[in-house]
Amino acid sequence: MWMILIGFMGSGKSTVGSRLAAMSGIGFMDLDDLVAEEAGRAVPEIFAAEGEAGFRRREREALESLPVGEPLVLATGGGLVDALDEPVSLRERGRVFWLDLAWHTAWLRLQGTEDARPLLAGASPAQVQELFLRRRPGYAAAADFRLRTDLAGAEQVARMIMVASGRGHGEGDVG
Ligand code: S3P
Repeated sequence: MWMILIGFMGSGKSTVGSRLAAMSGIGFMDLDDLVAEEAGRAVPEIFAAEGEAGFRRREREALESLPVGEPLVLATGGGLVDALDEPVSLRERGRVFWLDLAWHTAWLRLQGTEDARPLLAGASPAQVQELFLRRRPGYAAAADFRLRTDLAGAEQVARMIMVASGRGHGEGDVG
């Protein structure tokens, strides 16, 4: 059973995911990293060479390449829900946790990350906010649980996910 983290850019999926993996002793995968590894180039270079559609196709393929039977903590990219025909199909792979946060917090966290996040490059705050709002129904439809990551630290969020996954309280496992 996987623990799958979804949510907008800057919601803390990778940070929470690696804490969660350390707590649970389960392997961690960042889907963006897998896509980059399989493409042999970084995410912004994939967008530049193959467009967003190329990246989405790679994202879907990377997801499908992961063995379903093995436990996994999976941090996804913020647009995975756009890449999938049926976002609910994520639930077939495990429990889906939506890391949610207020728009203003997301915007603050995203400052200075344009080089790593091609969708932010050249986009106005209004355009990014439009994307933030447009994606919310997709995250809501895909998720089993919604957790706020602007009201709690990564460690606390990871502990909440442990509890929601029936893996105890996550106490005492972390160095
Ligand atoms: C994207 C989010 C990024 C990455 C790519 C596209 C998106 O991942 O997959 O730049 O469409 O929201 P993070 O959510 O980890 O930043």
